[in-house]
Amino acid sequence: MTAVASAPGKVILFGEHFVLYGVKAVLCAIDRRITARSHAIGERLIRIKSSMGNAEFVPSSADIINAHPIFMRPFLTIAEQALREFGADGGIEMEFESEIPPGMGLGSSSAACVAAAASVAALFRKKTKDEILDMAIKSERTMFEDASGADSAVSTFGGLVTFSSEGREKIDYEDGLGLIIANSNQAHSTRELVLRVREFRSNNERLFAEMCDLEDRLVDEALTALRKNDLVTLGTLMSKNHEMLRRINVSTDVLDKLVAEACNTSYGAKLTGAGGGGCIIALVDESNTARTLETLKKISDCFVARIDLRGVCNE
Ligand code: MEV
Repeated sequence: MTAVASAPGKVILFGEHFVLYGVKAVLCAIDRRITARSHAIGERLIRIKSSMGNAEFVPSSADIINAHPIFMRPFLTIAEQALREFGADGGIEMEFESEIPPGMGLGSSSAACVAAAASVAALFRKKTKDEILDMAIKSERTMFEDASGADSAVSTFGGLVTFSSEGREKIDYEDGLGLIIANSNQAHSTRELVLRVREFRSNNERLFAEMCDLEDRLVDEALTALRKNDLVTLGTLMSKNHEMLRRINVSTDVLDKLVAEACNTSYGAKLTGAGGGGCIIALVDESNTARTLETLKKISDCFVARIDLRGVCNE
């Protein structure tokens, strides 16, 4: 038997990093997906095949998940737990296909965890989106123990959402957001950047607390601007958010240049995700999309992103 599921990548409009300290983040699922294909196999084996590498693991043996490359651990964990939960005798082979460049802040790891959880679960019993999210977050934390769960949440449910430690909420936004994503082509490690911010916070406790309050206010203003479809204010707030991310040391010269160029023609721009490389997003509508694309194309790989409203899907 084979079960297939896919899940979208994401951008973060507001609140990356600060979400780990109690601030609400605003995220949007995008129309780039990862597909996971899980096959039930006779051998007592979990086998992962992906463009980033392959791994094999013997479940219920002395073989230890942590001995495998870090990015494989979530998938081995998902498959192992499903075999245990459903008392299955055989094994699972899982393959991935991705439209989301890895390590670029577009949520490829979380989307892979969500798609893997949905496809493996469907081999036995289809799970609810909440159950899939729970599996995905637990598996993601085998790779990166501090993950907030924000990326997995938006990948599971799709659309535009707010996320905090208190939960998630869908934002009803009829008009569709115009976003251009430009890639710095600088790879990054979310884990290292989260540690960098933790260090910044421990060296600047008061300042960081003030910045969290500021970010909280920025998010409230952004939600009001979204409700009014006020792109001018929303874009200005995104650019302010970029400044906050620069102050906590997660931007780079390339990201700053992309943001500065994008700001000349768009409503506003910022890095998205953990930073240290990865992508920026620029807010546009039909009046300034072409001009912004033209500018950014000269210095980066860029594309127009649409909101994904489906979230995780079984095929
Ligand atoms: C990464 O896309 C977003 C971070 O806030 C980490 C997290 O929320 O888990 C940097």
